[in-house]
Amino acid sequence: MIKNKNNRAIWNTRITKSTSNLFQKVGGSLYVDKKLYKEDIAGSIVHVEMLFKQKIISFKIKNKIIYGLNKIEKEISKNKFQFNKNFEDIHMSIEKRLVDLIGSDAGYIHTARSRNDQVITDFKIWIKKSSNEINDNLHKIIKSSLKIAEKNIKTIMPGFTHLKNAQPVSFAHYLMSYVEMFMRDKRRFNNNLVNLNENPLGVSALTGTSFNIDRNYTTKKLGFKNPTNNSIDTVSDRDFVLDYLYSCSVCSMHISRISEELIIWNSDAFNLIKLSDKIVTGSSIMPQKKNPDSLEYLRGKTGSIYGSLFSMLTILKGLPISYFKDLQDDKELVFKSTETLINCLKLLNEVLNNISPNKKRMLELANMGYTTATDLADYLVKNHSMSFREAYQKTAAIVNLAEKKKKKLNELTIDELKKVETKLTNEVLRVFDLKNSVNSKKSYGGTAFENIKKMIIKYKKQI
Ligand code: ARG
Repeated sequence: MIKNKNNRAIWNTRITKSTSNLFQKVGGSLYVDKKLYKEDIAGSIVHVEMLFKQKIISFKIKNKIIYGLNKIEKEISKNKFQFNKNFEDIHMSIEKRLVDLIGSDAGYIHTARSRNDQVITDFKIWIKKSSNEINDNLHKIIKSSLKIAEKNIKTIMPGFTHLKNAQPVSFAHYLMSYVEMFMRDKRRFNNNLVNLNENPLGVSALTGTSFNIDRNYTTKKLGFKNPTNNSIDTVSDRDFVLDYLYSCSVCSMHISRISEELIIWNSDAFNLIKLSDKIVTGSSIMPQKKNPDSLEYLRGKTGSIYGSLFSMLTILKGLPISYFKDLQDDKELVFKSTETLINCLKLLNEVLNNISPNKKRMLELANMGYTTATDLADYLVKNHSMSFREAYQKTAAIVNLAEKKKKKLNELTIDELKKVETKLTNEVLRVFDLKNSVNSKKSYGGTAFENIKKMIIKYKKQI
C-alpha cells in the first residue's frame, strides 16, 4: 500500500490497524499486473492532459506529472524500478513513485478517476494489442499452410469420417480446412474489437464524476472508438475478458484438433506423414522411438486455456455489479492464456514446416475401404437413370462382391460388375480411379484440384 506521511496506505487514513501480512502478500496483484505498466502510464498521461484541457488542473502540474510518468516508464523498462509488494498493484506502485519524484503535486493525478476505471482501461488496451499479436501468429500459420497446400494439390489421401476411410481427398484440401478455421479465429479476435473499443476511463468508481471531464478526448487519444455508456456497467463489465478467453479457447481447440490429426497420421499404423527430427523426442528406454511430443504438447495446452475461460465465467457468476476484489484474478487468467496460446501458435508453425506427407502410403490407403463407392452410386444415377437410393443398393451389392472376392473396387472386372448390373459398360471403370474421384468434386467448396487452386490464390491475395 502507498504510505502517506504517517506511514499509512493512501486509502488507509481511517483504517487504524495495519493490514494483515498474509492478506497483503496474497491479496496484492503487483507481480501479475506490472505487465500493464505501459498502458497504465499512457492512460494516466492522457488523463492529465484532459484534466488540463478542461481547466481542472494547471499547466504546471500537468507537465510535472507527465515528466514524472515518463521517467517512471523509463525506469520500469530499464529494470531500474523497485517493485515492492507492499504497494498492492501497478497503479498504486506508479502513483507512489510519482510522489517520490515530484512530491505532493502527484496527488492531482487521481482527480476524476478511480482504479476501477483505470484498471479496465489498461486491460482493454493490453488485450487489443495481444489480439493483434495473436493474429500475426495466426497469419504465419495460414501462410505456412498455404505453402504446403500449394505443393500438395494433387497429393491424394483417404478422407475420413468416424476415422474410417470415406472418400479420396486432396491433402491440400485437408490443410485448407484448417486455413478456414484459423481465418475464422482471426475474425473472431477482430470482432471482439467492437466491445474492446469502448473507453472505460472517466466512469470513476461507479457513478461517473462531478468534474467537467471530456471522455471523448481520452477516447480518441487512447485509440478507443467511443466512451462506455453506463458507469456502473463499465466497472462491472468483464464480458470483453470472456470474449477474449473464449476466442483463445476456440483457437486453441483448433490447434488441438490439427495436432491430434497429425498424431494419428504419424502413428505407425497410419504412417501418412513423417515428422522431422526437429519436432520429435526419443524414449529413455526404447531406442527406436521418435515420439510426436510437440504435437501432444499442443493438444494438451488446450486444457489450461479452457481452464482460464471456465475460471472467469465462474468468478463472474452471481457477482453483483460494480467492482469487487474477485475481479482482480482476470489479469492472471488472461496473461497466462495469452502466453500459452502464442507459444502454441509459434510451435504449430514450426511443426507445419517440419512435416512431410508420405505420398505413396496416402495413395495406397486412399484405395482401401472401397472409397470410390459413392462415385459409383453417383455414376449410376447420372448414366443409368436410377434414383440415388436404388443406385446406393446396387453399389452396396458391388462392394459386397468385391469384399467376397477380396478385391479392391478398381480390381473388379467388367464381367464381375455386370453380374450385379447388366447395363454397365467399360466406361464405368473410370469412376474407380482415385484422381478422377477427387477431381470430380467440383461443387463449390469441394476437393477438385481446380477448386483448391482457386482457394489458395484467393487466400494468398487476402493475406
Ligand atoms: N488491482 C485491482 C484489480 O486488478 C485494481 C482495482 C482496485 N480497485 C479497488 N476498488 N480496490 O482489480
